[in-house]
Amino acid sequence: MSDIPVIAIDGPSGSGKGTIAEMVANRLGFILLDSGALYRILGIAAHKANLELDNHNQVANLARTLEIEFCNAGTGTVLLNGEDVSKDIRTELGSSLASQVGSIPAAREALYERQLRFRKSPGLVADGRDMGTVIFPDATLKIFLTAVVSERAQRRYKQLIDKGIDATLPDLLRDLNERDRRDTERPVSPLKPAEDAVILDSTELSIEEVVEQILKLFAAESS
Ligand code: DC
Repeated sequence: MSDIPVIAIDGPSGSGKGTIAEMVANRLGFILLDSGALYRILGIAAHKANLELDNHNQVANLARTLEIEFCNAGTGTVLLNGEDVSKDIRTELGSSLASQVGSIPAAREALYERQLRFRKSPGLVADGRDMGTVIFPDATLKIFLTAVVSERAQRRYKQLIDKGIDATLPDLLRDLNERDRRDTERPVSPLKPAEDAVILDSTELSIEEVVEQILKLFAAESS
């Protein structure tokens, strides 16, 4: 157990977790763990190495040896063995590969310690699917962020188009439903709220409103 505070923010794809976690971390001066990025990097690395995703041991071995560097917090630059993969990991292929490697128990185990190491003073905001349930079960505050799937698909569409990445709404909706199904139905670390999580539905809320609510809840927990 550690005294260093953790805010765990879990939820499905497109719930706004990533943006919100980053804003909360900035406001508090905390470190940020984007655990989805780790699964995305592993998926892309496995793809580049032509690994069969059915070969769980090979994928887990790869997970243990990856050299990952998150550069200058906020710019989103991610290096995999020295190569900039920031764009690759955010494509739909990157999302799908991440969800597939995320359903491999040995790969999850291989990434476990790496995630714990992000817990550093003065505190951590960790975003993912199992932050509150598996990785940081003693988190100070656990948030489960949701939004209806049509709204999540819209947000993702806008994000991709803004970045100049091609996308269509029906494809995104289909992919989101597929990923939701895989992430919630997998036997190991499925996406589900921790028993002591606060459930926030962001469908009708602005990003700022969600951030303020989380900061308020954290202040109440810490006082
Ligand atoms: O949060 P994200 O959209 O970047 O995550 C991409 C995929 O990675 C998601 O579909 C499931 C997987 N993932 C996971 O299994 N566990 C986590 N803690 C974070 C992400």
